[in-house]
Amino acid sequence: MEILFPNLLDKYQVTKTIGMGGFSRVFEVIRLRDGKHFACKTNSMMGDDKLLQELKIMAQLRHDPGVVRLVAIVRDLGFCHIIMELCEGTLLSRLPLGEDEAALVVAKVAGTLQRMHALGMAHNDIKPGNILVGFDGEVKVADFGLSWQKGQGKGPLMRGGTARYMPPGERFKESCDIWALGVTLYEMLTGKIAYEELQTPQVLSELERYEDLPLILFDWTRVPVLAKDLMLGMLNLDKKKRLTAAQILEHPWIKRITQKYNRPAPETKVEVEAKQDVRTDLIMGGQASMPMY
Ligand SMILES: Nc1ncnc2c1ncn2[C@@H]1O[C@H](COP(=O)(O)OP(=O)(O)O)[C@@H](O)[C@H]1O
Ligand SMILES: [Mg+2]
Repeated sequence: MEILFPNLLDKYQVTKTIGMGGFSRVFEVIRLRDGKHFACKTNSMMGDDKLLQELKIMAQLRHDPGVVRLVAIVRDLGFCHIIMELCEGTLLSRLPLGEDEAALVVAKVAGTLQRMHALGMAHNDIKPGNILVGFDGEVKVADFGLSWQKGQGKGPLMRGGTARYMPPGERFKESCDIWALGVTLYEMLTGKIAYEELQTPQVLSELERYEDLPLILFDWTRVPVLAKDLMLGMLNLDKKKRLTAAQILEHPWIKRITQKYNRPAPETKVEVEAKQDVRTDLIMGGQASMPMY
């Protein structure tokens, strides 16, 4: 590792692997100068466009309360390390959640999606494995590897994505994030995997003609009535009728919970720094490391 990552190891000690993905490996690291712990997502620089999009979007959203915070970018020959806030784990290992907890997660993620969508961004990979839980107990959206912003780069990258969380026949749009959050909500409440036996994209797209797809395929017996109403709004096959993030936040099942816990209503105005941008030259050439604060 010393030979591969001299610049990373100059500033951080790598302690253990905490996640593996198709294009990356995630380590827990300790910053040498102050002993603080962070997560480090190490990507090979093969897919430069994908990586650049991920970094630009994380940088723009780094003050969003519902997004895992970008801390620094470190480059080594052929690799780029994304140093970010360390979280305790993902939602995946905590399922099923209680009704209140699930509603709070939806409120938090919908707030972040609302701000992303207002900036022309789509996350494109919302699922329990990409929603982290921080040591502060807060949920944070992570993994912007498939995210895309209108007017940036060459357009959405047409690979990857998890078929189970995609609306049939649709890809890479804001409305897909809402569908994916609907499927995530189903899994949060039931602990069951949606479409368990129907996981190939082919099967899912064949099912497109069934207007009441989620009604047929999901087991609603343990889902509270209001939550089911919200989910059916999120899982509407007609993307024009599907709820928006703002409408999710206005739904009675969500309002009930934000009021009960006296949570501030998720922000409706866009507060992220739209102009903040990652300097491409700093990532792909130039300096070896780039602190973000
Ligand atoms: N900031 C973090 N804190 C703790 N664990 C993380 C963090 N970021 C990622 N992970 C872990 O690593 C896994 C893969 O990270 P992710 O960004 O989703 O990469 P991929 O694009 O390969 O799916 C996650 O599912 C999670 O288990
Ligand atoms: Mg992931």
